[in-house]
Amino acid sequence: MATREIRKKGDEILRKKCKPVKEINARTIELIDDMIETMYNADGVGLAAPQVGILKRICVIDVGEGPVVLINPEKVEESKEQIQAVEGCLSIPGVYGEVKRPERVVVKALNRDGEYFTIEGTGMLARALCHEIDHLDGILFEDKVIRYVDVDNEE
Ligand code: NI
Repeated sequence: MATREIRKKGDEILRKKCKPVKEINARTIELIDDMIETMYNADGVGLAAPQVGILKRICVIDVGEGPVVLINPEKVEESKEQIQAVEGCLSIPGVYGEVKRPERVVVKALNRDGEYFTIEGTGMLARALCHEIDHLDGILFEDKVIRYVDVDNEE
């Protein structure tokens, strides 16, 4: 495993739409392992493949319950109820803002073994799932910010 360079805002790769994974091979597994290490090394709760320069529909999330790998994730349900809360992004360091996200989502994806699973997330997990899936479509959280916050001043 190795850490990879995290692409920052302004890098046009972050604005591209990612392609579905057709085959999970040794390179895919190496990428996933590197993404998990890169996410932990940067103290993030999620990372999407375009953030390490790979335009594939893969993301990893850990909101404190262990790593979740999502390949070709699709939102299959989302609550009408939305919650406005602060989020940030490893590709936009030091910037935080309030974004409205569904309170609850259900996502279907493949795991690293190529098996379908569904994951239901509320609160922080729902937010992370939506944020990371947005990355796969070239969307950054700043596109949806309602209000920027100065986290240092609010502590
Ligand atoms: Ni992000």
